Amino acid sequence: MITDFSERLIVQEVSPRDGLQIEPTWVETADKIDLINQLSLAGFSRIEAGSFVSPKAIPALRDGDEVFRGIQRQPGVIYVALIPNLKGAERAMAAGADELNLVMSASQTHNLANMRMRCEQSLSAFGDIVSFTAGSEVTLNGSIATTFGCPFEGKIDEDRVLQFVDAYLELGMQGVSLADTTGMANPRQVHRLVQRVLTRLPASALTLHFHNTRGLGLSNVLAAYEAGARRFDASLGGLGGCPFAPGASGNICTEDLVNLCDEMGIETGIDLPHLLTLSRRLPALLGHEMPGQVAKAGRNCDLHPAPVGLS
Ligand code: COA
Ligand code: ZN
Repeated sequence: MITDFSERLIVQEVSPRDGLQIEPTWVETADKIDLINQLSLAGFSRIEAGSFVSPKAIPALRDGDEVFRGIQRQPGVIYVALIPNLKGAERAMAAGADELNLVMSASQTHNLANMRMRCEQSLSAFGDIVSFTAGSEVTLNGSIATTFGCPFEGKIDEDRVLQFVDAYLELGMQGVSLADTTGMANPRQVHRLVQRVLTRLPASALTLHFHNTRGLGLSNVLAAYEAGARRFDASLGGLGGCPFAPGASGNICTEDLVNLCDEMGIETGIDLPHLLTLSRRLPALLGHEMPGQVAKAGRNCDLHPAPVGLS
């Protein structure tokens, strides 16, 4: 297959959710709102702005209600909320989320660790959420965490992942995300699974969610893109990680992804200088360096003056 690199790549920014959920430093509600407002001006069409989970499970995002109510919505931006159960759906709808991202793991062990439920219980809760949201304007996306590998169980059977994709589609969800929770995916595996999933749903309904835990994040993006995927999650600065997955670390870094796309001529519609400005503020907000690289190195086109005295 010859890949058409002129096809637009859609980036869903997840730093306000995946990015902040693992941070030990409390980020004030006003600072979360300011971050989302700034991200809303950078050209994203989709921002995962928070989660509505147990505040005991993820204290860092316990203010999701105030955050969603406080943001300045930009037209054309879909504000997504991650939820695990019906209570999360009720809270997210009341706070005005445009889309609910329903999450469970392909791995039974990780789902028990993360959601304190078996996969079957998660699916049953998702059925309740579908009924609850029927007739509303909210859209539903189903995420499958640990799709490409689990830190407890290791490899995940691809057919099991496909069964969950089918279950989500049967429930009537509009989108599906395949998540590599702890960066265990490799490009060949990604290419194969994306091709298989795209026989079931269009590229406009599939999102890939990669973590750069083992340095393969952007390689996996290219493999997925070549297999036909067009939507990707990424996090400003390369923040992110699941607190219930040992060894978890950051999502693929948004500005590194956008820089890659700019260099390759893949359109994203995202303003890279704006992103770099935002990313360079994160160390002061969170008290540590970011894993992302382009914010430190600058864009390819950010040249340096030649040393003086060259002849
Ligand atoms: N929002 C707020 N509170 C919630 C909630 C939600 N979506 N779901 C449950 N709760 C509350 C209950 O009201 C109850 O409160 P109480 O102790 O004051 O009575 C408490 O949490 C326990 O409820 P229960 O239904 O027994 O949940 P649990 O302890 O079995 O935990 C989850 C299940 C799914 C709520 C929890 O594991 C969770 O939130 N996990 C998400 C983890 C996550 O976000 N991981 C990273 C993203 S993938
Ligand atoms: Zn993640």
